[in-house]
Amino acid sequence: MRSAPFVPLLFGLSALADTLVDRQFPHLIIPVDKREPDRVFGTQFSGRIEQAVHTEISFDVPSNNGATHCRLNFYINTDPSKNAPRTLWGEAPYRFNISSIEHRMDKDRDTWNNRPRITGYVGQVELTHSGSVTTTGLHVPCWKGQVAQYVLYPDDPDRDFGYTWFELDYDPPHGITYEMFV
Ligand SMILES: *[C@@H]1O[C@H](CO)[C@@H](O)[C@H](O)[C@H]1NC(C)=O
Repeated sequence: MRSAPFVPLLFGLSALADTLVDRQFPHLIIPVDKREPDRVFGTQFSGRIEQAVHTEISFDVPSNNGATHCRLNFYINTDPSKNAPRTLWGEAPYRFNISSIEHRMDKDRDTWNNRPRITGYVGQVELTHSGSVTTTGLHVPCWKGQVAQYVLYPDDPDRDFGYTWFELDYDPPHGITYEMFV
């Protein structure tokens, strides 16, 4: 009985104490291009999002940790000494959406015309030229021991937008990550 008043405080603290237990970088980065709808581009080291190009991302999610919740995240490493490659163009606001797709990505087959179907909206990322990143949503299931697959595409089909980046496992990272927390 005496400890009862402390219970709400403990709940409050544990809600804040998210500990990152794993951060995954993409295993596959596959662009598909509406202008060459039957071309297979295979897997790349860089990502590209523009009106005609969407990029599929696959993560191999580990099973050996106690993660209870997971999210995608997106980073720009602006450290001048790292010189992490990126280009941003178009009209502000600079935004792209992320959706989950059917888990059937295939680096030898995926094209614009043969791409996995979207299964759900996951969230949005907004960038600036100076390199700040604002994310909305991006909470995803913890696909432990499985693949987790997504597609990145401009948020507005009528506004010019382009972003390319070289995916790098720097600290902080440069690009998209899958993060697991307890
Ligand atoms: C991107 O997501 C926003 C919701 O955050 C939605 O309003 C918009 O229609 C989406 N864009 C596309 C191309 O699906």
